[in-house]
Amino acid sequence: MYEGKIALVTGGASGIGAAAALRFAEEGAAVVVADMNRDGAEKIAGQIRDKGGRANAIAVDVSSEADNAAMVAAAVDGFGGLDAAFLNAGAYAQMPLEEHDGATFDKMVAINLKGAYLGVQVVLPALNRGGAAVVTASTSGVIGLSVAAAYSAAKHGVIGLVRSASQGFAARGLRINAICPGPVATAILGVTELPPIQPADALQTPDYGGMLLPQHIAEVALFLASPRSGGINGQAHIVDAGYLASYPPMPE
Ligand SMILES: NC(=O)c1ccc[n+]([C@@H]2O[C@H](COP(=O)([O-])OP(=O)(O)OC[C@H]3O[C@@H](n4cnc5c(N)ncnc54)[C@H](O)[C@@H]3O)[C@@H](O)[C@H]2O)c1
Repeated sequence: MYEGKIALVTGGASGIGAAAALRFAEEGAAVVVADMNRDGAEKIAGQIRDKGGRANAIAVDVSSEADNAAMVAAAVDGFGGLDAAFLNAGAYAQMPLEEHDGATFDKMVAINLKGAYLGVQVVLPALNRGGAAVVTASTSGVIGLSVAAAYSAAKHGVIGLVRSASQGFAARGLRINAICPGPVATAILGVTELPPIQPADALQTPDYGGMLLPQHIAEVALFLASPRSGGINGQAHIVDAGYLASYPPMPE
């Protein structure tokens, strides 16, 4: 699906981003693995190279304008272009609203929303025609999350950003979409070990509303970043094993 293409994945050291980096590479892409966790990014890039793929790791803080420019340069100068940008890095803070402090709010907005904003801005002029950006929002960008208000507010902003960017992307023959995952087995939810990557067609359907695998989200990201989804632009795609689809939720 990505033979001869170049993909950039932020948050690529862990969880959803790591699964996506490995899957982009399996499909033939050269991959820039960008993350603030340098060792983790190096590890994923090393796994790709060990299997004969092409990958570079770069340490970035997505809330920094200079780091965003550097990660795009790593794709363009390092591999010769950029076809798919998965802007996925994020951080979570859980606490009741009345315990929220300004520093937590600023951090949630800086990483989750400003990071996405800077990423979208920097990949727009760099993507090759026919390319696409995919941004990781959350189901808590669609409905509120009372235990994580600042995170939820930032993820709501991510969806507004993606919708607002879609016309500019279309004007250049590009697309941008958001993915809104439900609960995924990653470090954010205390699962630090990346579950093994499976043949894509062998992935099991999760229980209704249950925990998804990072690869479930990665497969949607690969689809949305590929020409196979050429008719889809500016949308937020919920990937939550059906939990938000109807009310009331199915009883356990
Ligand atoms: N796991 C879930 O249940 C879930 C649900 C909805 C949305 N999400 C979103 O999915 C995305 C990926 O998270 P995950 O679940 O794979 O968690 P994760 O913790 O496994 O991965 C997040 C990665 O982002 C990196 N990161 C954090 N801040 C960064 C920064 N400032 N600059 C660069 N890298 C940074 C971390 O080092 C880490 O490698 C996030 O945007 C998260 O908000 C996760």
